[in-house]
Amino acid sequence: MKDNYSVFDCHIIHFPKISNRAGAITPIQNKIDVPFEVKRVYYLYDIPAGESRGAHAHQILEQVIIAASGSFDVTLDDGRNKKTVQLNRPNLGIHVLPGMWRDIYNFSSGAICLVLASELYDSSEYIRDYDSFIKYKNYDGVTFSRF
Ligand code: TYD
Repeated sequence: MKDNYSVFDCHIIHFPKISNRAGAITPIQNKIDVPFEVKRVYYLYDIPAGESRGAHAHQILEQVIIAASGSFDVTLDDGRNKKTVQLNRPNLGIHVLPGMWRDIYNFSSGAICLVLASELYDSSEYIRDYDSFIKYKNYDGVTFSRF
């Protein structure tokens, strides 16, 4: 059976921050600071005011979302519960497990959304329709042992 994670399994990760008078550096090491093997890195930028991103879930992929610059809000939805976090520091990330519908919005001007992903890009493992997502999560009266 597929893992049926909840939003409560998705935690904020605090990355190291090394500061001196010339600024700060945040190193992120594979499988040390991130709890999975990073196969892909991408970043969203030049986001027009008022735009939102996301509005999908992944069946397999997990990821960490980081506000490398600026700030934005991330709402996670497991089909039963929702959780919203504001990301506003470059040494914080939200670990998004598979099977989470996510909306990313309220981007500040010049925000950069950095994503560390566990899989190469594969459009076939996306769920882009919310009703299909709810069916996928199979909440039609079925209780999962995880809950
Ligand atoms: P999409 O995942 O829909 O972006 P978001 O959910 O942030 O709004 O991706 C937008 C476009 O970019 C889509 O045509 C697929 C393409 N894309 C890639 O080719 N490779 C990638 O790694 C990603 C994340 C997107």
